[in-house]
Formats: sequence, C-alpha cells, structure tokens
Amino acid sequence: MLTLDMSMAKIFIGVAWPYANGPIHVGHMAGCNLPPDIFRKYHRMKGNEVLMVSGSDMHGTPVTVKAEKEGISPLELARKYHEMNVKALSDFGIEFDLFLSTEDPTHIAEVKKLFLRLLERGYLYEKEMELPFCPKCNRTLPDRYVEGECPHCHFEKARGDQCEKCGKLMDPDMLIGLRCIACGTAPEFVRRNHFFFRLSAQEEPLKEWMAPMNHWRPHVLNFSRMYLESGLKDRPVTRDTTYGIEIPVAGHDDKRIYVWFEAFMGYYTMAVKWADGDLRKFESFWKNPECRHYYFLGKDNIPFHTIFWPAVLKSLDWGLNLPYDVPANAYLKYAGEQFSKSRGVSIDIKDIVVKFDPDAMRYFMTTTMPENRDTDFTWDDFITRNNSELVATYGNFVHRALSFTHRNFGEIPAGVMDSGASTEMKNALEEVAQHLEKCEFKNAIRRAMELARFGNQYIDSKAPWKQLKESRDECANTLFTSLSISKALSVIMAPFMPFSSQRLWASLGEPGKVLDARWESALEPIQAGRKLAEPLPLFRKLEIEDTVKLEAKKMDPPQAGGLDKLDLRVGEVKTANDHPDADKLVVLTVDVGTEVRQLCAGLKKHYPIAEFVGKKIIVVCNLQPAKLRGVMSEGMLLAASEGDVVSLLQPPQDSKPGDRVDGTTAAPQITINDFSAFPLQTGQDRNAEYVSPDGKHHALTVGGKPIGTDRNVGPGAKIK
Ligand code: MF3
Ligand code: ZN
Repeated sequence: MLTLDMSMAKIFIGVAWPYANGPIHVGHMAGCNLPPDIFRKYHRMKGNEVLMVSGSDMHGTPVTVKAEKEGISPLELARKYHEMNVKALSDFGIEFDLFLSTEDPTHIAEVKKLFLRLLERGYLYEKEMELPFCPKCNRTLPDRYVEGECPHCHFEKARGDQCEKCGKLMDPDMLIGLRCIACGTAPEFVRRNHFFFRLSAQEEPLKEWMAPMNHWRPHVLNFSRMYLESGLKDRPVTRDTTYGIEIPVAGHDDKRIYVWFEAFMGYYTMAVKWADGDLRKFESFWKNPECRHYYFLGKDNIPFHTIFWPAVLKSLDWGLNLPYDVPANAYLKYAGEQFSKSRGVSIDIKDIVVKFDPDAMRYFMTTTMPENRDTDFTWDDFITRNNSELVATYGNFVHRALSFTHRNFGEIPAGVMDSGASTEMKNALEEVAQHLEKCEFKNAIRRAMELARFGNQYIDSKAPWKQLKESRDECANTLFTSLSISKALSVIMAPFMPFSSQRLWASLGEPGKVLDARWESALEPIQAGRKLAEPLPLFRKLEIEDTVKLEAKKMDPPQAGGLDKLDLRVGEVKTANDHPDADKLVVLTVDVGTEVRQLCAGLKKHYPIAEFVGKKIIVVCNLQPAKLRGVMSEGMLLAASEGDVVSLLQPPQDSKPGDRVDGTTAAPQITINDFSAFPLQTGQDRNAEYVSPDGKHHALTVGGKPIGTDRNVGPGAKIK
C-alpha cells in the first residue's frame, strides 16, 4: 500500500541573515523566512537530514546608521533587535537548527581563518583606493553613509555598496550626485589602503558553474547571468570603521571586514559550530556532493549569493559545496511600496503574533508569496483568504467530519476507506511534495487546499446525515474516510501551518507531534476506536476591524512629508511688548488669518522689540496653549538656530496672514514634545525643510514658494 522511499537525502539550508537593526516584518517573513521553514519542515517529515542555519547580521553600516539615530551603541542596538527577532521568529513557528549572530565567537574565529586562507591563496590583496570623505562630518563614508543616483537604473537613493532598486553592486564613485547621508554635503575623495577580493579571477569558473543551473527561478538566473556577462571587478572587502570583525593581519586596527564579506561566511561558520568539532559531521553537509545547498533570500541579496559567495567558496579551494538553488523571492509590497525597516514602512511580526493565529498569516503569505515577481500585501486579501479558504473550506471540512462523528458515534468508527478518496489523497500528497521540492510554495499550498475542497465535496456527495438513517455502516465508511482525509490534511498542511495542524492532529486523537510524523503517514488510514472530544473550530473568522491597529506604519506622501500633523501658517505681528516677568521673553500678538493670537517667544536677546511689528513669520497653530511665566501663549513662531545665531523663518514676500504651509490641514492639537520630534531644519539653500524618516528632504513652501530665513544660518540648522 505504501511505498516508503528510504533513501535519505541531505539538505543544507542557508537563510539570509537579517540585519539586527529593526524588527522582522511581514516583508522579510514572506520573502526570506517562511519559505525555508516550510522547506525544512517538509524535508524533515520526508526523513531527510536537514541543517538550516542563519543568525542576526550585527555589523555594518545598516546597524551603525540606525544606532546613531537612536543614540545608542551599535552593539547595544544589534543585541536588542537580535533578541526581539529570535522571539518573533519562534512565535511565528520558524525553526532553525542554529540561529545565532555574527557576534558569535566561532563565527568571528572562523571568518578570520577564511580571510587568512584567501590571503594566502592570493585571492585577497591590498590596494590603495579612493574613498568618499565628508569634510563636514569629518569621516570617511562607507556603504550606507553615502547616497546618490544609480548609473544603471537612475534610482535616486542608491547606496555606496549597492543599488537596492536594480540590485547592482556599486562603488561610491559610480554614483551620480554623491552625498553624505548625515548632512547632504558632496564628499571629497581621499586615498586609503584596503583589502580587495579578486572576484575577477572567478568570472570564467562561475560562468561554467552557472551554465547548467536551469532549475533556478528565471528572475534569479537572468539577473545572475547578466551580471556575469557584464564582467566581474575586484571588490574591496574591508572598511574604515572600528565596529565589526577585526582584520587578522597586523597594522589594520582602524579597519574591519566588510559586513557582507563576513556575514555570508556565516553559512559556513554556523555549520562548523553545529558540528562541534566533529569533522565528519561538518563534511557530510559541506563536502558531500550528495548534499544540496539551498539559499533563501530577498532579491536584493541575489548577487551576494549567486556570484560573490560562490566565488569565495571556489577561491577557498577546499572542495566546499556551492549553492544548488537560490530560490530568491521578489518583494511583498504594501500599497505599492516596499516594506523597509530603514524607511519605516513596516508591519512587524512581533505585532502579528499577538493579534492572530500565526497560521492564518503563514497561509496568506504562502498564497501571495512573491516567488517570481513583486506581490501586494493587503489586509482585505488576508481577511478574504482567511474567511473563505481557511475557515470556510479547510476548517469547515474537518469540523463537519469531527463534529458529526462526535455527535453520532462518540469515537472514530471502523469503516472502509473510499477508494476514490484514497486516490485523491495520494495524488495530493505526491503533487504537494513535487511542488515543494521545486520550491514552488504557492502551487504547493494551492494543491493542498484542493484536498480540503475535495473533502467537502465528498461529504456533500455522501450526505452522512441521510446515511445515518438508512445504513449506519455506510455512514461509518463516510466518516472513517472523512477523518482519514482530515488526518492527511493535518500532515500535508503541517509544513505550512504547524500550529493548526497540531491542533487537528490532537483532536483526531493522534499522539505526539505532527511535525514528527512521516510525510507518507498521511496515507495511513486513521485508527478506529479512538474516543473523540468535542471539536473546536480550527480557525477563527476575522473582520477587517481586527487589522486596523496593525496598519503599516506607512510614510506620508512626499509632498506632505510628516507635515500633515502640523498646522503651520503665515502670521503677521500686530504688537510686540516685553514680558512683565521674564527678561528673555517677548509677548506678541499675531494675526494668523482666522484670529489674532498671543504668543510668548524667547527672542528678546536676539531681536530688538521694535523690529517685530509688521513682520511676517511662521506660526505653529495647533500647539497646546501654555502659560509662560503667567502669560498665555497660543502658539509658537519658528526660527532656525545655529550656535548663537537665531533666525526667524521668512514666508515668501507675497504671502498673507493665514496662508498655509503646503501639506498642512487642520491638524489635531500637539504638545511641545510632539513638536520637537519633527525634523525641521534648514537645507542646502538655507530654506526651511522637513526631513522624513526615509531621509528625504521636503521643502517647506507657501503657495509653492520656499520659506527662507531672515539671517544667515548654514544648512542643517535646527528649526524650533
Ligand atoms: N543582512 C543582509 C540583509 O538583510 C543579509 C545578509 S545574508 C548573508 O540584507 F549572506 F550575509 F548571510
Ligand atoms: Zn540601480
């Protein structure tokens, strides 16, 4: 009856190491983490030996840039997110054989060994290179510290090491309009010594290696082949920084290994760690030609995994296994935008797991997985899939089978398996397996769901409620068959939805863990005679209201910036007087269009009182009124300050009291603390601007004209 394929395969799974610079979000999960988890769970159930490793990517500019923003050390930041992400992954049901971090001592020690090996083999060499240096920030600007326009696809915000739009690896001097991310200054170039990896030497060997890889996803193969066709250049693999892994060569204390160059070595270092000194164990995964290596990642990581990492593996010349498949995903987008920690568009997994059954989200993500092109995440689709497929199809079928049996038999009745249903189960099991082995997760889950649909049709066609009256035996056969299909479903669905599969498994009276069951056991008929408990619904119906609190923290459209939270208006000063009790304050009455307001401002030391009357200024009109030394202040005027110089913002000449700064509408009241969170500053041209969380600068304008300042302050002066 059952043909068990006893030949055991070995599978190594590398999962892209998430940067520990923010919480893991829906985009990462659907792109990088859920697919390998399904793949691993399936292969284990097949009886294959799997080693799946990853960890937090703790180093590099993604971490240091964020740490500078949060005002903590990079290590503190990375540890915080590492812990948070370990928990979120595990709560979402993602299992690894090892998930550590690039801070791990074995990782560090092994990376240094690999570095020395490459050096010794002549694949690393030292060379002088030109590096961008910001005269204003007084530092060199590696990787994410510079931005500019990509020379290939003309994306405006390409980074110093990669354009995230077209995926091409960059050198800073290729970028058009290069600028420092901190201050916007155009950098100078300085000469520095760095280690280079001889990537060029592997161009031909890689072409040969890649030639037969026709099983790769088309977008991965096309990208990688075009990449090779355009020629490989040697790449610098050390950086001017003191955060990261030290260079194991004397005299380079001021440099560290480039984050990518050490992070991808983590696939190897974690296997070393896992083998724990047992060389044969290590080699059974890394030198065994029978062991297939799979790498799961997002499309921006493709060149690192299909070009750079294989080149390093080849250069080590130890006969280490190269990737067999790199089933990279495109992006899961939210309302047309890419989820991105660094740009603040995010739905975090840690929030999902407290709100929903993780399986509901796992199911939805699998059905919309961006396997070959970008797909869209929408809450409407999530709700629809949950309600019409999980609840109304899968959940409904098993609930019908279980509750009807429980009510009328109390236990699993002995019966004869329907042969049509047997065939259907066998086909489903085989076809789902075939899809999974080809990393076609969407097709796999679609096929699995068809079995649940079949189950409903089967029950409908047999009508056990009629059979119960006519022939209890016939009815028992129907229920026995339905419960056997349910059991098959709990096994087949387990890699995708482990939590609900376990619940179903247990309510069918099966012992232990469904994930420990063999894949083929899906076809073993259920055991008659087991008592059934009153079944609970497998899934919960959801309403769109359930999702509102999780709306992605989406950026405001560029024009408005975050400014729609501010009611900024042109005001004209009517009167100006000294404050009776405070020698730094002046009391102004200001026409803001709709009314005249009284404002206290700490400007006495900076502007002679006589200069105020008739002056046009910019007023924050939705600030909570407050008494300053006994005098009511109903708003705040805006000025830029730099050192001792304070400079009032100047609306355009022809503006009138009450004119709004673009993008503002009636905004709710805010406190002075809320206000100080808005990054308002002067730009290159000294005009006022707002810097949105994505680092974009938005000019503040009235009627399309810029707002200036009335005294000279440099660019980057804080406006308050
Ligand atoms: N941290 C990188 C990212 O999030 C991925 C690193 S993958 C590894 O894009 F190959 F370095 F491990
Ligand atoms: Zn580009």
